[in-house]
Amino acid sequence: RKSVIRITTGSQALDELLGGGIETLSITEAFGEFRSGKTQLAHTLCVSTQLPIHMHGGNGKVAYIDTEGTFRPDRIVPIAERFGMDANAVLDNIIYARAYTYEHQYNLLLGLAAKMAEEPFRLLIVDSVIALFRVDFSGRGELAERQQKLAQMLSRLTKIAEEFNVAVYMTNQVIADPGGGMFISDPKKPAGGHVLAHASTIRLMLRKGKGEQRVCKIFDAPNLPEAEAVFQITPGGIMD
Ligand code: GTP
Ligand code: MG
Repeated sequence: RKSVIRITTGSQALDELLGGGIETLSITEAFGEFRSGKTQLAHTLCVSTQLPIHMHGGNGKVAYIDTEGTFRPDRIVPIAERFGMDANAVLDNIIYARAYTYEHQYNLLLGLAAKMAEEPFRLLIVDSVIALFRVDFSGRGELAERQQKLAQMLSRLTKIAEEFNVAVYMTNQVIADPGGGMFISDPKKPAGGHVLAHASTIRLMLRKGKGEQRVCKIFDAPNLPEAEAVFQITPGGIMD
């Protein structure tokens, strides 16, 4: 029987909001407008997951699926130093893959599952989970098919989380609604509809505060109050 491991986000306030950190055996979704910190949180988790358990890490490797080309290995260096870890060793334990189509994204997951059967992984990042679906199924009348393929991908993520005791951290985008003839993005509306809502164990809504400050609100989680936490994006990653 597998037991939940909670991985620190780097911010005590955010960890407390989450009940100790992001959890293995679960899918944590973060959505929010551009520059709200979704990818920066992913970078911090790449490092904190590798900390020993007694330091609120997961003592495991990280798999990173990047659909937007926004992973920055050079960002990992100061974050590793902040946690007192060797940056090269940390980078060696991040298995990185760029996905170019939704099918490619799915096939990468199959390959990673095979790797996870052999090596101890504790975190799988998918940044962003939906971007390629929005590109590959952009035509009218393709929504039903998109949602069906998205459901397949998400069930694969759930299976990985449960089979390998891994935390899945996936980012999502917000929906743009037509308003006054223009498409205005609504920072409170995650994309992906019911299919994505159903797959996520915990949904986090991120928004910008003053300067490098960011606010995280629990949008939907079975056992957590609808509270907020404030954190900062710093050179050393996410902090209080
Ligand atoms: P999209 O992917 O565009 O939707 O945004 P996101 O939510 O992934 O935003 P991201 O995590 O990329 O946050 C971008 C913000 O992080 C920037 O506006 C900066 O405030 C901050 N940031 C990015 N890189 C650095 C860095 O190297 N050092 C510091 N201190 N802050 C950074
Ligand atoms: Mg991003």
